[in-house]
Amino acid sequence: MFQNQYYQELDVLSVNAAKLRNYYVPFRNLTEAFEAKDRTDSSKFRLLDGEWAFDFYPSIHEIPVEFSAIPQLPLTKEIPVPSCIQNHGYDAHQYVNVSFPIPYDPPYTPYDNPCGIYRRSFELESLGDEAYYLNFEGVDSNLYLWVNGQFVGYDQVTHSNSEFDVSAYLKKGTNELTVLVMKWCVGTYFEDQDKFRTTGITRSVYLVTREKAGIWDYKIETPVDLAKQTGTLSFTTPYEGEVSYTLFDPQGNQLLAGTGKKEFSLIIEDCAYWTAETPTLYTLIIEAKGEYIREKIGFREFTIQDRVLYLNGQPIKLYGVNHHDSHPDLGPSLLKSDYYEEMLKMKALHMNGIRTAHYPKSPEFYELADEMGFYVISEADVESHGVVNLVGASADYNLMARDEQFGPIIMDRIIRSVIPFQNRPSIFMWSMQNESGYGVNYEQAQKKVRELDPTRLIHNERAAQPDLFRENDFSNLDVISRMYSSFEDVVRYCESSAIKKPFMQCEYAHAMGNGPGDLADYFQLMEKYPSFIGGFVWEWADHAMYLEDENGQRVLGYGGDFGETLHDSNFCVDGLIFPDRSLTSSAIEYRNIHSPIQLKGVKNDRITLRNIQSFLTGTAFSAELSIHVNGEKRSDLPIDLTQLAPLSEVEISFEYPQVTTADYVTVDLILFDNQGEIVARQQKMIQEAKEETTIAICDLSIPSLRVRQEQSYYKVEGTDFSYTFNARTGSFEQLNVDDEALLVAPSFIHIWRAPIDNDRHITSQWRQAGYEAGQWNVIAMDIIEEATSVTFRGSYRLGMPSIQHILVMDLTVTIDNFGEIQYDFDVKKGNNLPDMPRFGVVFPLKKAFNKAKYLGYGPYDSYIDKHYASHFGQHEQEISAMFENYLKPQENGNHWKTVKADIIGPVMYQITSPKPFNFSFIPYSATELTNAAHSYDLPEISGHYLTIDYKQNGIGSYSCGPYLKEKYRFNDEQFKWTFAIKVSR
Ligand code: GAL
Ligand code: MG
Repeated sequence: MFQNQYYQELDVLSVNAAKLRNYYVPFRNLTEAFEAKDRTDSSKFRLLDGEWAFDFYPSIHEIPVEFSAIPQLPLTKEIPVPSCIQNHGYDAHQYVNVSFPIPYDPPYTPYDNPCGIYRRSFELESLGDEAYYLNFEGVDSNLYLWVNGQFVGYDQVTHSNSEFDVSAYLKKGTNELTVLVMKWCVGTYFEDQDKFRTTGITRSVYLVTREKAGIWDYKIETPVDLAKQTGTLSFTTPYEGEVSYTLFDPQGNQLLAGTGKKEFSLIIEDCAYWTAETPTLYTLIIEAKGEYIREKIGFREFTIQDRVLYLNGQPIKLYGVNHHDSHPDLGPSLLKSDYYEEMLKMKALHMNGIRTAHYPKSPEFYELADEMGFYVISEADVESHGVVNLVGASADYNLMARDEQFGPIIMDRIIRSVIPFQNRPSIFMWSMQNESGYGVNYEQAQKKVRELDPTRLIHNERAAQPDLFRENDFSNLDVISRMYSSFEDVVRYCESSAIKKPFMQCEYAHAMGNGPGDLADYFQLMEKYPSFIGGFVWEWADHAMYLEDENGQRVLGYGGDFGETLHDSNFCVDGLIFPDRSLTSSAIEYRNIHSPIQLKGVKNDRITLRNIQSFLTGTAFSAELSIHVNGEKRSDLPIDLTQLAPLSEVEISFEYPQVTTADYVTVDLILFDNQGEIVARQQKMIQEAKEETTIAICDLSIPSLRVRQEQSYYKVEGTDFSYTFNARTGSFEQLNVDDEALLVAPSFIHIWRAPIDNDRHITSQWRQAGYEAGQWNVIAMDIIEEATSVTFRGSYRLGMPSIQHILVMDLTVTIDNFGEIQYDFDVKKGNNLPDMPRFGVVFPLKKAFNKAKYLGYGPYDSYIDKHYASHFGQHEQEISAMFENYLKPQENGNHWKTVKADIIGPVMYQITSPKPFNFSFIPYSATELTNAAHSYDLPEISGHYLTIDYKQNGIGSYSCGPYLKEKYRFNDEQFKWTFAIKVSR
């Protein structure tokens, strides 16, 4: 048996670890401190990342030696630090959302607790009179540390620094570190975050050389006086000795210098304040006992007044995103350069906020957020969501929140999330936890955090569901925070003034798969209501990890792909960026909706633009504002944004173009940065064409058609074409032009779409209603042969065994002597059926058709509620560019409000309709997309599928949010629809 029990004790959370302090790295002198690009330039900092010796044991009890002999145990393998063992062939990945991956039995963990032993050595040329501190920035889930064979200490909390004073254990020459890391510990019950569960030394390790009995911790506050345009730097420390300071302005000029003891306060005149838009940082270098510490200072003050969030006196909104540490190659081990890349992308999407879901980041993340400008909600490493899946009455959300035996561990985790980062300007709000219930343990932690840091706001979303049998204390919570509130609830909250706190969504717009579809509606509510201070999209990136398929290929997998039986499938593949870090169309959707300069409205002859930035004028952008008719530019309007003040509007007059009622007129705004790159695009449709009543069908005086019947098939032959119409299904078996067969399979009328992830709660109802498997039944058929055309007038019913009929349809298909086809539908839905996914016709075309030209919403895929990545215009695309390759295949590639579309191949098909339609042209059928679990499970491309739809249901966020707004539902009980396909040879 493994003898040391720390890992399953509630009252031994840490052994021999150094006292918690704010994060910093000391430098040797002022120049070093001032000039260092980062901590690695400090001569007091030694990074111990890299290859470590390693061995894995499936159970801690299989370690073949006594606890005290672990540092002598020979190790046979190597593993990089930082990383997780599951990415290096040990143990196995498991993705689980809510449920605890181990039996709920705190503080105990399974007997077979997998573990890894790590070892590395390093040289110390001399060992002076200095102190040495070993830092682990994150070890999942705990660590036992030995130095040169001697046991030093123990710590847990995966996303937290563990620091040990190892001075007494080191020697001159070669020193050896041994670390034992377990997969489970008591902390596992508090780290039940929705993610791949990982193990290992997952963040950097380093040694810091310190002065003995020097400064340890300090606090910096930066209140501002707006009337005087000053900022105050207030410094306090329990350290008794003298502290000298030098303050540099953002340009690096020395501003102030002096000394103080225990505290000092500096007033900065003409202070340049920090905001996410203007992340101006001053540099403070303090010196105490020969140690130089550099702090970047942002002067800023967040306040709430009348339910509005202010920064330095200006109202701000949070356009945020939830960010997990997850990457297919790196697992949870993101380095500063990775964070940097992600933040650059976020900036380019006009995000200004990050919630560190659901644990603190490593310190360099916050430094980057300070520099690049983000409003950060920093969350503690606490999630005990799994309690909701216990059996019977034990399934109580507040079980651990109210049980006082867990008070100290919760308090410890929350304090550990605050003190290290208490000086970071980017953090404006501390989040106590995620999905861990509400109760006395959190109330106490909130109180404590308020004492520790009265300058920042406090967040606990779970106050949404407090204990019903006691008085709850919300006094230390500053915002009403909800996840995935419906539009109605947001409006209800904002319209009432019963609660005096602002409203925020710590999560909204679930970006799983082809989604979310509700970004624009939430944004409009943020614009409308000052008390709706913003939200954080769930979430930034798809989580997926690599595995080898049966052919030895490296492919991406999600829950269930790694042999795990308890898992939550692809619920982790829910980001705005794909696992390979490329942007989804939803990311572009976000970007355009949150454009810093908004095309707010067009009324009569005036266009209103609004600057939604709180601090900057429009100087950073140039804009193209233009009027388009049917997607073609008619005129450019002169526009200069440099004078457009923050949070203000400008009106621009324009001349309405000469158009007819058959035209589509749009106002288009394209915003460019100083390099001429497009940063956002917005559009308002100001005139839509009046619906034409009929489609002119070709009437050429060329030879008439021949029609032959074989059972339910009708062969229609013209001069250079022959079509086979299946009267039974109302579809074409084959379309031949010039003796070339153009279909790879019969066309069909469908209502099914490959379920998007947001359909997951409605898919079974759809299947039950026969939307996937219903069969057409023809009741009556008239064939009308005329000189220039033949018309099949059929009466159809769509049905499936054991349920009421699904649809009743009168369908008229007319073929003229030039080969043009016209469909006229009159459809009535059966009773009591759910919203339909779509209604339309599919033509499985030969692969030689490979391009589309269309007037509609493109170039990204577009839907009734998700079309802001795109704009209405003329587009021309290869089929390969029209397919969005989701790891879990699903409906994609639709083009909403299409007026006409040309499909180019051996012939050109031109699709028109009296009113805008939806079309997609992608290399897979809905059935193929439905049946594939991964993109790489899709079959070889058999055809290029042209889909022409009357309507399609919206996209929404229903996988984890409200169902579609009424106006986005395809819930027509009855409809008529017409379209035509012309063929040009
Ligand atoms: C939230 C939770 C997140 C994630 C999301 C669903 O309830 O806080 O961690 O699970 O749902 O993707
Ligand atoms: Mg959860």
